[in-house]
Amino acid sequence: MTSKYPLPYHQKMNLQDVFDLYDDKLRLVEKKIMELFRNKAPVIPLIGSYITSSGGKRLRPLFHLICADLAGYKGDAHIEIAGIIESIHTASLLHDDIVDMAEMRRGKPTANSVWGNQVVVLVGDFLYSNALKAAVAQKNQRIMEVLSEATTRMTEGELLQLNKIGDPDITENDYIEIISAKTGALISAACRIAAILGGLSRDEEVALAAFGMKTGIVFQMADDVLDYMAEEGELGKKLCKDLEEGKITLPLLYLLRVAGADEIAEIKKIIGENFTGEGIERVLELLKKYRSIEESLKKAGLLVEEAKSELKIFDDSPAKEALLAIADYSLAREK
Ligand code: IPE
Ligand code: IPE
Ligand code: MG
Ligand code: MG
Repeated sequence: MTSKYPLPYHQKMNLQDVFDLYDDKLRLVEKKIMELFRNKAPVIPLIGSYITSSGGKRLRPLFHLICADLAGYKGDAHIEIAGIIESIHTASLLHDDIVDMAEMRRGKPTANSVWGNQVVVLVGDFLYSNALKAAVAQKNQRIMEVLSEATTRMTEGELLQLNKIGDPDITENDYIEIISAKTGALISAACRIAAILGGLSRDEEVALAAFGMKTGIVFQMADDVLDYMAEEGELGKKLCKDLEEGKITLPLLYLLRVAGADEIAEIKKIIGENFTGEGIERVLELLKKYRSIEESLKKAGLLVEEAKSELKIFDDSPAKEALLAIADYSLAREK
């Protein structure tokens, strides 16, 4: 497929430009995603198309497609792989909503609240294993290694996070480890696999993987900030859900570091006993008092710059511009 880069290199792209640029390819990816739901057990395509047609930004496929361009890849395996990656992401959302007992996703009731946990956990299992099966068909051992490693890391991240629920002694390192695994790993793999497809040098592959990891961490930090301050309708998920679940994320971690001793004791008590209603209100008040959201965004902003500087080893190109734009978007997004 021919690319249709409409912009001069020096002009900064925004996310819409990037999506417009990749529109044709993303449509093909959409078909692949649907193919991966095909099965004679009717509940698989049913739930698959329910969650897929509800929305979703398709950001992981986009990372992969752009990196494939950056890597100079000329074949068409990247379309299939982008579908596989989105299918793995979909599986993780189905499972995550069960684990988090979530009721809303992409502006609609979660699959588990429509069909129940039993069926949805199995559909998630199917999507994971079917995606890896499709990846095996690519007959590329390195791609398989990267993809299976990322998938394993995602589950580790979710488990690590469960282990730290309600633990006010969680450190920022713990938090970074959790989000690197549950979110960074797949985005990093999306970028690294493109480098492998394009036959880039080891250094270039490592740089793209690091770009994906750092951007993925930022993406999750933004998610954790949005949990406190998004427009609920826009986000399509319930607000303050992390607090309710006892999940201590970046804004709260910051608060636990800077608040006064009495306030910290109060927050810890709320975390231990009363993570609903009044407790949440009080935590929100303290987050505001200490400007925790702003500080969290500042921290994530530094990491975006680090992510972008991983791309220094590549010559300027439209693909590089597009990656810089989605790195910025990963933080600035509103949903
Ligand atoms: C949601 O991912 C899960 C996180 C890692 C925060 P996205 O925000 O990419 O979800 P969709 O696919 O656009 O719905
Ligand atoms: C998203 O985690 C799931 C994975 C990254 C596997 P969260 O629980 O933090 O995200 P949302 O808010 O439900 O999308
Ligand atoms: Mg969740
Ligand atoms: Mg979760």
